Amino acid sequence: MNISDQTTPGEAAFNPFSGDSAALVENPFALFELLRSMGAVVPIPFPLPGMDRQAWAITRMEEVVQVLKDHAHFTVDPSSIGVNSLLGRNTAETSDTPTFFTSKTMLSVDEPDHRRLRLLVSKAFTPRYIESLRPRVQEIADELLDRVQDQGQMDLIKDYAYPLPINVISEMLGVPHADRAQIRVWSEALARGLGIGKRDPEVTTHMRAFGEYVTRLVADKRLQPADDLISHLIVIEEEGDRLSETEMISMLTLLIFAGHETTSNLIGTGTLMLLDHPDQLERLKSDLSLVPAAVEELLRYSGPANIAGPRFATEDIELGGQQIKKGDLIIPFLGSANHDESQFTQPDELDIARTISRHLAFGQGIHTCLGAPLARIEGDIAFTTLLKRMPNLRFSVPRESVAWHYALVSRSVASLPVAF
Ligand code: HEM
Repeated sequence: MNISDQTTPGEAAFNPFSGDSAALVENPFALFELLRSMGAVVPIPFPLPGMDRQAWAITRMEEVVQVLKDHAHFTVDPSSIGVNSLLGRNTAETSDTPTFFTSKTMLSVDEPDHRRLRLLVSKAFTPRYIESLRPRVQEIADELLDRVQDQGQMDLIKDYAYPLPINVISEMLGVPHADRAQIRVWSEALARGLGIGKRDPEVTTHMRAFGEYVTRLVADKRLQPADDLISHLIVIEEEGDRLSETEMISMLTLLIFAGHETTSNLIGTGTLMLLDHPDQLERLKSDLSLVPAAVEELLRYSGPANIAGPRFATEDIELGGQQIKKGDLIIPFLGSANHDESQFTQPDELDIARTISRHLAFGQGIHTCLGAPLARIEGDIAFTTLLKRMPNLRFSVPRESVAWHYALVSRSVASLPVAF
């Protein structure tokens, strides 16, 4: 791990953006602990060379919450303070097609645009509405396990953790079944390309194809509307000035991507964590009413999003004893805040019955995850159904061969062969 105790602004303490360290991939939490020991606000190298700016890792719960809630001092939209908003991201400059990285979504704008965009879809994600989807989510979980039950083994990622959320969000939006395998390819590229300073031509190509696909999907739905979220957004767009076509296409790309990638990781990584902690797995199997609490603990312990999206300081400000300058890049380390020893007793222990008053796996403030109620229900149903139907769940390969996909934003299990 490339870490020194150098904490002078401008000098490299460590580079969290590199995914080449085996230790970082296997266990980022050891690194987060080291970061916390260096401070609540730690200087890290700016991910782009030649920029006269400082980047900061925010490592503790209190300061992370402060950054995520103080929208006056921290913005998600660098163009609002005169910094190029494309800043080293994967873009498709030669194309007019809106892509996840080039166009504005609710995640990348401040108020009042953020509120306008979020309100247009928020009804479809209220806990009450999402609760009404429970029977269908249950059906999908059962159908997936029916397919493998007689084989006695499966790849938990390919056969269960991935298809469950993509099928749920696709049905909500009205994405055809036949396209879902291709969406996986694009989404994996998108997950790899998230973050600053990560230009990659392959990711750019995939992003353009994803944008073109969503544009075609919208055109098809205009001709043949149905009772789904895409058709609902088309009505709003055609009504007048609440939503532009570009905003609609980037919103849909965001919902398709965010609606499954992270939840797949919750189910995949969560299962791996349970298999790694047989005592906790036994406890859960013997009392499945603990599943909702276990989902919260798995989100805290090893949630899908290690960091929130980057923020930029809108003016000079002191934070955690450090002098932040206007335009500095701020990275809230959610995974570190969720292991903050001043907030949790024995934070590195997995305790599925832990009482958690607050964790940051879904972020905080106005950008708090829109899909949290959906993710919680999917997690609840996924773990309950799996453990009820396959109580002998176990690794079918040596533990050391289970491989991770690493990205600082989200770490996921590539494949998890299990027997039952
Ligand atoms: C376990 C699963 C999930 C996790 C851990 C997760 C995590 C997060 C986090 C940390 C944020 C805030 C990012 C920031 O502040 O920079 C966020 C925002 C968001 N998430 Fe999720 N998410 C999950 C599932 C979902 C699902 C199922 C959807 C459904 C569509 C979704 C849609 C969104 C959207 C639209 C935003 C942007 C909200 C805004 O900017 O107002 N997420 N998510």
